[in-house]
Amino acid sequence: MHPALLVQDLRVSLRGRALIDGVSFALDPGQRLALLGASGSGKSLTAAALLGKLPAAMSVSGRLQINGMDVPLSNRRSRRAGITAIHQDPMSSLNPLVRLGKQLEIPLRHAGLSVPAARQQALELLVSAGIEEAERTMESFSGELSGGQLQRVCIALALACRSTVLVADEPTTALDMVSQAKVLDALSLYSESGHSTSVQSASAGAMLFITHDLPVAAAFCHQALVLGSGRIVEEGSIRSLVERPKHQYTKQLVEAAHADFDSLPSEATA
Ligand SMILES: Nc1ncnc2c1ncn2[C@@H]1O[C@H](COP(=O)(O)OP(=O)(O)OP(=O)(O)O)[C@@H](O)[C@H]1O
Ligand SMILES: [Mg+2]
Repeated sequence: MHPALLVQDLRVSLRGRALIDGVSFALDPGQRLALLGASGSGKSLTAAALLGKLPAAMSVSGRLQINGMDVPLSNRRSRRAGITAIHQDPMSSLNPLVRLGKQLEIPLRHAGLSVPAARQQALELLVSAGIEEAERTMESFSGELSGGQLQRVCIALALACRSTVLVADEPTTALDMVSQAKVLDALSLYSESGHSTSVQSASAGAMLFITHDLPVAAAFCHQALVLGSGRIVEEGSIRSLVERPKHQYTKQLVEAAHADFDSLPSEATA
């Protein structure tokens, strides 16, 4: 079986300066991989490269495969390449002038559903993503919702797009603890197979979860990569990283988060 996502020797440079320098990893269906690293280490650029959203002045090379199919790393690619994103700022993924229900219905209509069926599925997805007033949310514009609610709308949108891979860049950083938990619950839908929502693809989605928050990564992800200056400096299971950190940055992260680990279960919950 192919991995859901395969990245080989990813390199991004700007005017001869290497920003991402030979990053390789694979993600299986249903797997959640945490991408950790200090500010400026290249996490968001890695995400942008995978999403085909690098600034035009940057050059990129390497290999990207989704479900065993080569996908060009250039910015010129189909919108349906099988990879979608959730950002720290959900407003950047939503059109402020279009009702949220309509935005959810668009990919469902592209998938061949009739207007009433797409509307029904959109409603179901909002409910699955933990939106309490789904009917009202369908009629709302993005400016009328809170940050946590918008993150959950974006998760519903990612589910509607049926993509194989979800890249979540600091999706909970701007949220309070309660909203954070709700967003993580909604995100976990993405990587669980056999969920009852009929539009969700049969195989579980793979997730690249970018975060500064080691306790969240430890509770939510299985594996982790640590970036330093655009290279992978450490990788392995979250547990091994927490228990035996090798790189200086990982040691600092573990030290800073130590108090939180006392309340962690003995294995990652996923
Ligand atoms: N548009 C850009 N133009 C020039 N350099 C950039 C640009 N975007 C990022 N960089 C550089 O690329 C490197 C990696 O940046 P990136 O945004 O990926 O960091 P990050 O790990 O996501 O950091 P943070 O945790 O602060 O979000 C940094 O040195 C940054 O200065
Ligand atoms: Mg970033």
